[in-house]
Amino acid sequence: MKMRKPAMRTLALVAVFCATALTVAAAVVFPNLLPFLDPTGFVSTYSSTGSFNENNAFFQSLGTNGRTCASCHVVSNAMGLSAVQAQLVFAVSHGKDPLFSAVDGAVCPTAAPGQNLNFSLLLQNGLIRIGLTMPANPQFTISVVQDPYGCALTTDASTGVQTISVYRRPLPATNLGFLSAVMFDGRETVEPLNNATTFAANLFTDLSHQAMDATLIHAQASAPPTAAQQAQIVNFELALNSAQAFDFQAGILNSNGANGGAQFLSTVPFYPGINDSLGPPSGFTPNVFTIYSNWATSAYPTERSVARGEAIFNTQPLVITDVRGLNDALNEPTINGTCTTCHDTPNVGDHSLAVPLEIGTSRTVNYEADPTIQAAVSQLSMPNLPVFQVTCNQGVDAGEVTYTSDPGKALLTGLCTDVGRGKGLILRGLAARAPYFHNGAAATLDQVVDFYNVRFQMNLTPQQHTDLVNFLKTL
Ligand code: HEC
Ligand code: HEC
Repeated sequence: MKMRKPAMRTLALVAVFCATALTVAAAVVFPNLLPFLDPTGFVSTYSSTGSFNENNAFFQSLGTNGRTCASCHVVSNAMGLSAVQAQLVFAVSHGKDPLFSAVDGAVCPTAAPGQNLNFSLLLQNGLIRIGLTMPANPQFTISVVQDPYGCALTTDASTGVQTISVYRRPLPATNLGFLSAVMFDGRETVEPLNNATTFAANLFTDLSHQAMDATLIHAQASAPPTAAQQAQIVNFELALNSAQAFDFQAGILNSNGANGGAQFLSTVPFYPGINDSLGPPSGFTPNVFTIYSNWATSAYPTERSVARGEAIFNTQPLVITDVRGLNDALNEPTINGTCTTCHDTPNVGDHSLAVPLEIGTSRTVNYEADPTIQAAVSQLSMPNLPVFQVTCNQGVDAGEVTYTSDPGKALLTGLCTDVGRGKGLILRGLAARAPYFHNGAAATLDQVVDFYNVRFQMNLTPQQHTDLVNFLKTL
């Protein structure tokens, strides 16, 4: 007979009741570890300062369009924004919530308010438009080969400055003490996060700068927030850790010797390079996640599946090819690695030193020449994005053409070697904030695993696929 998890249904019901009661009764107070329902269980956020409330500047309108940081960084979504949440807010507000400000909530800033077609990328894929100006003296030229909304590349009539529209997911404003780069392309890493001595001060500087830019851009403020407001926001964010707390199949994620959940995460040590997969081999362990190792011998099959998934993440061989920033930088066309070659920060999963990479998530089936990348991308629910042709005309890569929906770090540096590169993401609280990847191309964690299975020739069995997804759901 199969062992069943005890009292699972009762626990779930109690948690739903608590979350509902507290949010209805007192919408402005978030008790520590308040559970929020998500598609596969409950997620919660732990603040090292105890419960928090909406008096913090993070929750206040500091600009002109009514948005707050929490318009896009939602507590119940592990401080990110799920597409389902965007749909809910649209339905409840008839599209009038400030989230749907044309400036970057719409496919183009000129879009008319209230019409859901103009918000298709936000509603379907949770995407925000980011307008980035062309860098000075780039090593490449950019032209548009697919422009579904008419603002892929615009030129300011008076200044001649060109702006490129890329569409990205709000990155979670939590677990920030583990960052090695701020923003997908690292553009808010104004001070480097590569040294244990300067880490805390530089992270504070970077996040303060980020909070200022977010207020000026997303909230369309006419003046930057005060230093006191920025400090309040950053101190609030830095105190937070978020993670899945309860999984409908595996149960309470810090029971039976497991260390899932946000409270344990708040005790996980970090310093830049703590487990650098590209540094000296002696300093690196591929066993990045260890929170479920005690479940390997559990009496419950659902717990054993999660433990097997964790082991697959740490040790299953991947054949890593054609990753810009890795294969080219190391001059190794084939790297035999694991998921943890790139996701190396212990029990968190971003890169413990900044290494922006291009794994191919911005490529499109129609324009892709590399058959492996093409097959991998076709596993995804790729949003209908602009496609840019980036033609390198200087340096060792001269003549190389890349078709991409997001030129990534190259828009900051102007370098051909940076085309499409972005940071590896923190892998906690995933269940609460679908879709995945910076452009929301993976609708589900199943699609994430399908992508990697093809992209890096993992040859997963159906059982291994299930185990890996079950593990990702519990993060
Ligand atoms: C309109 C939606 C929106 C609003 C409002 C918003 N953000 Fe964001 N936020 C985003 C997007 C999109 C990104 C990722 C952009 C990128 O990577 O290029 C992001 C990224 C971040 C990050 C970076 C996390 C990381 O892993 O690098 C932080 C921190 C953050 N936001 C905090 C804030 C704060 C603080 C505010 C309020 C002052 C705010 N955001 C307002 C959409 C928003
Ligand atoms: C070659 C480096 C590399 C390897 C290997 C790798 N990843 Fe990633 N991973 C990345 C990068 C870079 C991103 C961000 C890509 C993007 O957003 O477009 C990412 C993003 C993700 C995300 C999306 C997170 C989010 O918040 O949207 C998940 C989930 C993920 N990886 C899981 C895995 C798993 C599981 C494996 C092993 C099967 C794996 N990764 C192997 C580099 C890698």
